[in-house]
Amino acid sequence: VKLTDNEKSILDGAKGEAPRIALAILKDLGELFGAEELMPVSQVHIDATLYMVDAGVEFAEKLAALGGRSAVPTSLNPSAIDLLHPERLRVPPELLQNSRKLETAYLEMGAAPTWTCAPYQQGLVPRFGEQIAWAESNAIAFANSIIGARTNRYADLVDICASIVGKVPEFGLHLDKNRRAEQIIRLEGFTGEMFRDEKLYPLLGYVFGSLAGDQVTALTGMPPAADIDALKGFSAAAASTGAVGLFHLVGITPEAPDLEACTRSLRPKEEMVITPDMLRAAEATLNIEESGAVDWIALGCPHYSFAEFRSLAKLLDGRRLHGDTAMWIYTSRAVYGWIENRGILSALNNSGVTVFTDGCPLQFPRNAWSFSRAMSNSAKFTHYCFSQTGYPAILGSTAECVETAVTGKIQRRKSPWH
Ligand code: F3S
Repeated sequence: VKLTDNEKSILDGAKGEAPRIALAILKDLGELFGAEELMPVSQVHIDATLYMVDAGVEFAEKLAALGGRSAVPTSLNPSAIDLLHPERLRVPPELLQNSRKLETAYLEMGAAPTWTCAPYQQGLVPRFGEQIAWAESNAIAFANSIIGARTNRYADLVDICASIVGKVPEFGLHLDKNRRAEQIIRLEGFTGEMFRDEKLYPLLGYVFGSLAGDQVTALTGMPPAADIDALKGFSAAAASTGAVGLFHLVGITPEAPDLEACTRSLRPKEEMVITPDMLRAAEATLNIEESGAVDWIALGCPHYSFAEFRSLAKLLDGRRLHGDTAMWIYTSRAVYGWIENRGILSALNNSGVTVFTDGCPLQFPRNAWSFSRAMSNSAKFTHYCFSQTGYPAILGSTAECVETAVTGKIQRRKSPWH
């Protein structure tokens, strides 16, 4: 990697120890990926915010103590816990202490206390073509594919370095030549009724990700009117089953007004199809149980939007949840404030719903709770639930989750692809 004079002086320690360490790591990353130089980014989203091991805390604390400060606007992915209401989540002292350490270090370095995996739904929306460094798989896929901003799939800890330096190595999806679709997947046999079913989008993302793998892939046949929360669910699921950083939804993705534009009229390496049968099979894989009791409904993976809260409140319509069933919803502080202000939060609380901020439903303190089976409208959550929490999970639409929460028993209706 060829450094500018200014970058060389940072590497020599002229701006302090934290920028020196951060730049050295970014330079090594660039060399690993064959980058020729570093390039500026306008914002960073940090994923290394969730306490897992002490090393993550030590790294953040060390950089903060050495004077590391964000050079560009920087947002934060969820913490492991609800930092505003830890008592509600029954957070054990050690987890609380380590989460607070991370909080202190990142805020000291100048990050905004966003604590959300859907930064694009609370005002931090990059522009089309903007060069950014985001970590968190759903946010990366959304930024590249739905907004048309440009980021690689940045890993934990590299994200902090990018924030301190305000630059990243110039490689991968930052470069126009690497954004061409090399594979095409066509939707075949889908009807208007299927596209109107909310559950189609997470399931489609789930299948799409497993076929796309790590290749930039175009998908034809998605209705241009798919709403933003449906695209969020699709992106999150696709980035769970595949190493998906960028996909082109033809007619939706800004770089893909048509197939020729995103393939640059070159022959794709591979052409595949997704059929309703494949959705049926994916649904069967995700839903091990078809009936019985559910005691934990988890929504907000990725974090719930204001529009999703409004729809949920309408579906619940003031009904009380079943006494043995909890409904937890995770969202950002910004959206929490909006629903509080609009009276939606109190209506949901009166029904028995608990809304958490900042955290992630897959990271809750398991030993403090004793659920037996989960349900969610998120294919990402359903995909990871068993391995992360030990609970089997069921995928349902929002309406199915609501009816299940009210009755305490799995309520699912036949999907149009059955
Ligand atoms: Fe967000 Fe946790 Fe889901 S970080 S996308 S709520 S797994």
